[in-house]
Amino acid sequence: MLRIAIVGGSGYTGVELLRLLRGHPMVEVTAVTSRRLAGEGVGDVFPSLRGLYEGLVFTEPDIQSLAGHADLVFMAVPHQAAMMVIPGLLRAGLKVIDLSADFRLRDKKIYEQWYGPHSAPELLAEAVYGLTEIYREWISPARLVANPGCYPTSSLLPLIPLLRCGFVDPNDIIIDSKSGVSGAGRNPSTATIYCEVNEAFKAYKIGEHRHVPEMEQEISRAAGRDVVINFIPHLVPMSRGMLTTIYTRPSKAAATPDFLGILQKFYQDSPFVRILPEGVFPNVSSVRGGNFCDIGLKLEGRTNRLIIVSAIDNLVKGASGQAVQNMNVMCGFPEAMGLDFAPLYP
Ligand SMILES: NC(=O)c1ccc[n+]([C@@H]2O[C@H](COP(=O)([O-])OP(=O)(O)OC[C@H]3O[C@@H](n4cnc5c(N)ncnc54)[C@H](OP(=O)(O)O)[C@@H]3O)[C@@H](O)[C@H]2O)c1
Repeated sequence: MLRIAIVGGSGYTGVELLRLLRGHPMVEVTAVTSRRLAGEGVGDVFPSLRGLYEGLVFTEPDIQSLAGHADLVFMAVPHQAAMMVIPGLLRAGLKVIDLSADFRLRDKKIYEQWYGPHSAPELLAEAVYGLTEIYREWISPARLVANPGCYPTSSLLPLIPLLRCGFVDPNDIIIDSKSGVSGAGRNPSTATIYCEVNEAFKAYKIGEHRHVPEMEQEISRAAGRDVVINFIPHLVPMSRGMLTTIYTRPSKAAATPDFLGILQKFYQDSPFVRILPEGVFPNVSSVRGGNFCDIGLKLEGRTNRLIIVSAIDNLVKGASGQAVQNMNVMCGFPEAMGLDFAPLYP
């Protein structure tokens, strides 16, 4: 059995990792940290996990102790906190999957411009960007995987195959995303309390969201040149789920079935990306709780716009599910192990 530690086990992605790993046949969670909850039982704090992790107690995030108890660590902590712990874990010989943004950007200057000082820039070149379907081959031998953000996952999975084969115009990409409130984490803030989000629907951080450089990095890589995008995130009153609509233009004379065909072919061996038939568009209610990314699209002939829509669960394919998928690839387990279940419906 692979021994797993979760650093930041009391946050939404940490608890989601506990939910998913409980069903994985090849792993055992041996350590879970929370500074606030140290000493408390996992099942006592999170009733949904009661009876499922007998004897597992939150501990302080101590590198020496984690190194003695685990083979692989999930870092489910905020950016800037992850980079303080990861170098020590790697030195101790552990594999690390970081759910934060600390190792997603390859350029230290860009990281520092959007996030602040980086204390372990020597690891930026080594870290592999963990968009599983795109970088499997590099993820497999990696010891440090930077799990993508939720907005980038929902945008890049449909865009990268189309950009790589030159079917969309990189000069004209608008990404319009709507996220459930768990995307903001479990730490209370005024912006996410009930009366602020219930019956509300708003755009925020237009052009300023920290996922912009991550998306531009990967879109530029796929297009083979520097690309800038417009990104408009929105908050919607649901606990989990993310719907992304991408407005772009075709760069070749092609029809809707041609674009769908490219995606179908690219993802034919990828169990978690579902390309929907022509005329059918994704719904967050079809992916809730599951590790799928559903994609639909339409070329609007009248305006010559290619409209692409994707849906994920931000806590699963957008975070913890993709992290478990990356663990499977890094450890030589079947990619879908422990994740091969239907989303919750209704
Ligand atoms: N929520 C999403 O949909 C989503 C999607 C993709 C990626 N992510 C990323 O995943 C990471 C975790 O997100 P989340 O939503 O689960 O956050 P969260 O709900 O706010 O939880 C953060 C966790 O980190 C711990 N923590 C905070 N500061 C720490 C520090 N300095 N040292 C050690 N532990 C610390 C907290 O516990 P204590 O304070 O008790 O130690 C808590 O367990 C973030 O980097 C986030 O950007 C989130």
